[in-house]
Amino acid sequence: MKIKIGVFFGGKSVEHEISIITANQAITSLNKDKYEIIPIYISKNGKMYTGENLFDLKEYKDMDKLIKKCEEIVCVNNGNKANVLRVNNKMFSSNIINTIDVAFPIMHGTNGEDGSIQGFLEILGIPYIGPDVLASSIGMDKIMMRRILKEQNIPSLEYVAFYSLDYIKGEDKYIKEIEDKLTYPVIVKAGNLGSSVGIKKANNREGLAEAIEFAMEFSDRIMVEKAITNLKEINCSVLGDMIDAIPSTCEQPIGSDEILSYKDKYVGGSKSKTGGSKGMATLQRKVPADIPEEMHKKIQDIAVKTFKILGCSGVARIDFMIDMEDNNIYVNEINTIPGALSYYLWEATNKPFEKELDELVEIAFKRNRERQNRTYSYDQNILALGNGVKGAKK
Ligand SMILES: Nc1ncnc2c1ncn2[C@@H]1O[C@H](COP(=O)(O)OP(=O)(O)O)[C@@H](O)[C@H]1O
Ligand SMILES: [Mg+2]
Repeated sequence: MKIKIGVFFGGKSVEHEISIITANQAITSLNKDKYEIIPIYISKNGKMYTGENLFDLKEYKDMDKLIKKCEEIVCVNNGNKANVLRVNNKMFSSNIINTIDVAFPIMHGTNGEDGSIQGFLEILGIPYIGPDVLASSIGMDKIMMRRILKEQNIPSLEYVAFYSLDYIKGEDKYIKEIEDKLTYPVIVKAGNLGSSVGIKKANNREGLAEAIEFAMEFSDRIMVEKAITNLKEINCSVLGDMIDAIPSTCEQPIGSDEILSYKDKYVGGSKSKTGGSKGMATLQRKVPADIPEEMHKKIQDIAVKTFKILGCSGVARIDFMIDMEDNNIYVNEINTIPGALSYYLWEATNKPFEKELDELVEIAFKRNRERQNRTYSYDQNILALGNGVKGAKK
C-alpha cells in the first residue's frame, strides 16, 4: 500500500505562484513507487481544489480555467487520516474522493509558512511535514527569532526593535537608542517579511530616519542592526527534529553583495517597492562554501543548535553572516519549508532530493506518534459526574 501524501500549495499569499512552482518540483521528486500524491491547490480566495490537471504546470497559465477542470473539496478528519470530500455532492456516487495519510504543506509566506496552514493541519489531526505552528511562526518573525537566539547565546547581531506606531509617537527616543547601542552604517528591516522587502542600509541619522519610514510601509514592527560592510554569507541546512538533527554541507550564495548594493541605490532614491530580490532563486552559489574547515564545522554546529532551540522539524536553512574584518560568525535568520527545501545542499551532502523527501515523511510520522502519546483529554467526563461541577473560579 502506498502512502498517500496530500501536497497543499498555493494559498492567499503574494508568493502564490512561487508556491505552485516549489510544489511542482517536490511532487516530481517524490518516489511514485512509495507514494500516491493528492494535490490540494488552495486558490487565491482560499478555496481548495484537487484533480489530475493540477500536476501540469502549464495549466496554471489560466487559473480560472484550471479551477473549472478541478473538483472543489474540503478535508475532514477520519481517525489518523483526512478524508477529501467533494463540496458539490454527487447523487449516486461517494463524495469521498480520496484520503490523506500525511500532509506536505508547500506554501510560502503569509497564510502558509507563518504557521497558519500548520494550525489547520493540527486541527485536522493528521501528520504533516515540516515545523509545527510555533516554529513556523517564529521562523517568519525576525524580531522574535532574534530575541530567542540572544537569550540562548547563539551568536547574532545586536539590534534595536520597536513598533512603528511607537516610533511615530517618539522618533527621537528611538533614534537615540539606536545611536547609543549601534554604530553606522546600520541596516533597517521590516520585522516580519522575507525576500529582502523593506530592507535598507543607512549611513547616518538622516538615512536612518528615511530607512525606518521605508520599512514602516511594509510592517508594523521594525528592526535595526549593525551593517556588516565586509560580508560573507553562508547558509547551512539542517534535517531532523528537536532531538536528532544533522547539518548539510555549507553553501555560499554569491552575488548577494551585489543585491545589497542594488538596494543601496534606493537610499535617497525613488521609493520603489520592487527593490528586493526573489530570495535565493536567482543567486549563484558555491557548494561547499569557500571557508576553512574549522569554520565550516563551527557553522554546522551552530546551525543544528539553532534548529533545535527554535523547535524546528523537517528541514530548515539557517543563514549566517560572517564579518570578514574580524571573522565573527552571526546567525542572521532561519528559513523553514518550503523556502528551505534546499535540495542542492543535501545533494552535495550525498542525500538526493528523493531521499531527503523520504526522510521528511518519516519525521512527520514520528512526530505524530509522539504527539499521540501525549494526553489531550481525560476519559472521565466531569460534566457527567453526579455531585455538580465546580466553576472555574473555585
Ligand atoms: N546586518 C547586515 N549587514 C549587511 N548586510 C545585511 C545585513 N542584514 C541583511 N543583509 C543583507 O540583506 C539580505 C537580506 O536580509 P535578510 O535579513 O536575510 O532578510 P530576508 O528575509 O529578506 O532574506 C541578506 O541576505 C544580506 O545580503
Ligand atoms: Mg535572508
